[in-house]
Amino acid sequence: MLKKLKYEIKNSLVKDLKTTLYISALYKNEPISKSLDSIFGSTISKAMKVDSFKSDFGKTIEVYGNGNIDKLLLVGLGDKKKFNSDKLRGIAANIIRNVELKKITSVTVDSKSFNLDNNDYAQSFAEGFVLGRYNFLAYKTESKKDSKLSKISVLGDCNKLYLEKGDFLGEAVNYSRDLGNHPPNILTPTYLANEALEIGKSKNFKTQIIDIKEFKKLGLGSFYGVAMGATEPAKFIIAEYSGGKKSDKPFGLIGKGVTFDSGGISLKPPGRMDEMKFDMCGGATVFGLMKAVSNLQPKINIVFAIGATENMPGSNAQRPGDIVTAYNGKTIEVLNTDAEGRLVLADVLSYVSKNYQPQAMIDFATLTGAVLVALGDRASGIMGNSQGLISDIKKSSDQTGEKVWELPLWDEYCKDVKSEIADIKNLGRAGLAGTISAGAFLKEFVDKTPWVHMDIAGTAWGPKEPSYMPKTGATGVAVRLIYNLVENRIK
Ligand code: BES
Ligand code: MG
Ligand code: ZN
Repeated sequence: MLKKLKYEIKNSLVKDLKTTLYISALYKNEPISKSLDSIFGSTISKAMKVDSFKSDFGKTIEVYGNGNIDKLLLVGLGDKKKFNSDKLRGIAANIIRNVELKKITSVTVDSKSFNLDNNDYAQSFAEGFVLGRYNFLAYKTESKKDSKLSKISVLGDCNKLYLEKGDFLGEAVNYSRDLGNHPPNILTPTYLANEALEIGKSKNFKTQIIDIKEFKKLGLGSFYGVAMGATEPAKFIIAEYSGGKKSDKPFGLIGKGVTFDSGGISLKPPGRMDEMKFDMCGGATVFGLMKAVSNLQPKINIVFAIGATENMPGSNAQRPGDIVTAYNGKTIEVLNTDAEGRLVLADVLSYVSKNYQPQAMIDFATLTGAVLVALGDRASGIMGNSQGLISDIKKSSDQTGEKVWELPLWDEYCKDVKSEIADIKNLGRAGLAGTISAGAFLKEFVDKTPWVHMDIAGTAWGPKEPSYMPKTGATGVAVRLIYNLVENRIK
């Protein structure tokens, strides 16, 4: 774990400031500020000329000083009209990498040039810092690098609370990334359950773990069918957070937590099967949100639920052809044991709908390879039964830079999951609209609750842009997006 950053607001004049590195920014065609000009004089303009620096987005120059400021880092922000808080997040990530590479210990950021007097920008800036310094080093035995940097000073007008909020959100995303990146022999359903119990100690939290031993008795037959093939015991993890009024209906956040998906008896081909350790990333999104909520304590009630299990082959594994009964009483013909995520979520969704009657529910799942065909790896697929909730998600997507795209869940598609001999089957039509038929399957377990399903199979891991995203491994997708949405619900 990297040392947590501290933030400090300073209000001196630039010329009185003592710091190793002063970081300032410049839009295209914007002149440098008078105060910098008076401290560094012609050296800045000379450096700009030598390095052909034109304040293009992401470009930087460095100028050494000889007074109180040892070095100036000047960052190009590009075209002012095209700049936004997501671009700033990327800029902040670049800065922190530059700073950590050079093992600099004291930095001061010029608030005005980065628009940090705007609260959204201040939050995004801190998010970019924390996200940009993420590295997964838990299994590197040598040189557990700890950053020398522990404090960021900001010179000028800036609300520290928003820097700290951005920091907490960044940490929550990084926590989600860590969970995704741990190997499947370590990060088991039991490991996740223990994490939930740990977060459960925070203020306003109450955590409950339902062990596989109780699944049959409770009627979680669909989840049990997937779980019974594994030696690692499955866990149904439920955390209730009560930050709102007692009478407020909770918001439901649900995750697929398949800690390893071999495909079961419908075994997957060996190529890149290791990536199926990431099949719990929907659960990891929910865990990231739990972490954010435990630290930021929003005034809302939330129920978090994760179905955690392995999907393994073996003599006790479920067979293609099995029929199971879900928590809501519907029977499911299991035609492919590799379409296991929807079987787990069927019970988690109907359990949460029935026992908590949430105001709305969103589930997160690495559910289908087909979403990569439809949308590639840059946007999550969303679909559901509530246009209101879908437009709320789109709004938060715009505000956070986490991309989503809606797929239709029309009745025509819903027919595709009807079974000949049971109520429904866990497959749609071969090779056609696989992401939508998975959504159509889930819809059977939701009733009237406003609900959206988010397929994150393309966005949950792998190299991503922009620069605050990791070059490899889990991304912590949708933690920031959904925290934003939850907060918009309160106002
Ligand atoms: N976890 C996979 C989905 C997946 C595949 C995510 C590849 C990321 C990359 C899911 O459990 C699965 O196996 N889905 C099947 C469904 C099919 C059998 C209908 C798939 O997508 O191939
Ligand atoms: Mg599968
Ligand atoms: Zn899966």
